[in-house]
Formats: sequence, C-alpha cells, structure tokens
Amino acid sequence: MRLHVRDVGTGPIIVLLHGFPLDHTMWEHQLHAWPGFRVIAPDLRGYGRSDLTEDTVYTVDDLADDVLDTLDALDITEPVVLGGLSMGGYLALSIAERRPERLRALMLFDTRAGADSTEAASNRITAAEQIESSGDTGPFLAVMQPKLLGPDTKSNRPDVVSQITATMQRAPAQAVAATLLGLATRPDRTLILPQICVPTLILVGEDDVITPPAEAQSMAEAIPDVTLAIIPEAGHMAPLENPRLTNTAIELFLQSLPT
Ligand code: MLT
Repeated sequence: MRLHVRDVGTGPIIVLLHGFPLDHTMWEHQLHAWPGFRVIAPDLRGYGRSDLTEDTVYTVDDLADDVLDTLDALDITEPVVLGGLSMGGYLALSIAERRPERLRALMLFDTRAGADSTEAASNRITAAEQIESSGDTGPFLAVMQPKLLGPDTKSNRPDVVSQITATMQRAPAQAVAATLLGLATRPDRTLILPQICVPTLILVGEDDVITPPAEAQSMAEAIPDVTLAIIPEAGHMAPLENPRLTNTAIELFLQSLPT
C-alpha cells in the first residue's frame, strides 16, 4: 500500500522510519537538517495520515513492503540511506535482509536485531487482546510511555513529554493491536548483521532503557562497516530528545559515505 509521506528537499535520498506507536512527526528535527539531501519520512500503515488496513496482524515485513511500495510509487529506484528508530529499525533490517539492493547505507537508531523473548512476546499478545476487546490503548500506553524518554528529557523538556504523549494517544487502537501482534512474531535478524554490506550508523541514547547502549554495541560488533554513536541526555527517542548531537552524528556519517 502507498503511505502518506513528508518529502522534503532534493538530492540523494534519506528515508526515516518512525518507532511504535508513533508517526513521522518524531523526525521534526531531522526533516530539514541536511541541505543537499531529500528526506522522506512516511507514516507507517495505520499511523499518522496513512490508512489502516483490516489485517489483524501487521508484520514487520508487511510494514517494510509498504515502504518499498511507496518508494516505487514515488519512482525512486536509486539506493537510499535508510534509517529507522526501534520498530523502524526492525523494518530497516527486514529490507537489508530481503531487498539489500535498495540500500546505499543503513542507520539504526535505538533498536535491536533480536526477536522478542517469550515473555516479551506474551506480554504483547496480552496487551493486543486487551486493546482489541476494550478499544482502549490507555493502559498499554501508561506502561510504555515512561520508558520512552530519558531522565533529562523528563525533568527538563515538558514540551517533548507532551509531544510524545499526544502522538501515542493519536494512534488508532486497531493499528496498535495489529502492530503488537506483528512485533511479537518478528524474526530474529541477528544472523544477518555480518552480511550487511553497506556503511551502517548505529546510534543510541545513553539512557535508552528499551534498547540499551549494550545492545547497540553488540550489533555494532557484528556489522562489518559500522559507526557507533552514543548520544548523551537522551533515552529511547534520541533524535527527538537530543537532536543537535543526533544530527551531528548523522551528518558526519553522511559525509563519510562513498559518492
Ligand atoms: C519502538 O519504539 O518502536 C518500540 O519500542 C519497539 C518495540 O516495542 O519493540
């Protein structure tokens, strides 16, 4: 399916895939950050201004295919710099495994390659069932929201706290339930990391408790051509919590890419 996108600038293409259960607005500090690049930030299926589908499970590979269909619809055939945060990173790894020819470079933000543990998957299935039966995402969001932001953001950036809360609250219950079921069943992509043959930036907030720096470090150790950036004063939402240092790390990475 074709997704709604923010499409800013001209030049070589950067695609930014948002986390769960968010939308493209989490990239507000990145959309205009690199003159000379075209930045495309979709709303994934069911989020922001993109349509819902009736599917009861949104798999990571389905969501990744929506992104590729959307690039096709935009007549984009050149390999892109593909970045994704957390769930967006799962999608980026899906594309890296199944459609590596679409990639010029990879940027993995606050994410992991492994599948859910049995306990994590079972918690997601329980949450999805509760959301499906009640139509209410509130109890699930109340558990998830405190884990997204680091302590500096929580203490000093009420604007970011309100923004992220509002974005999560906008997510339709049906999309949240279907995505939870897809995340619970996503494959382990740890074994593909050594086969990634494009330059890769791994970036993580120093205070990320969902996908901690140790996880980023172990992904970095497995990828051949890799740069690791640990961003201070940021939790799981580093691009939103510390955009200045995030954007500098991305800019240095972009400058290092072969032309
Ligand atoms: C995200 O930020 O996309 C989520 O934390 C991903 C997940 O729940 O695994």
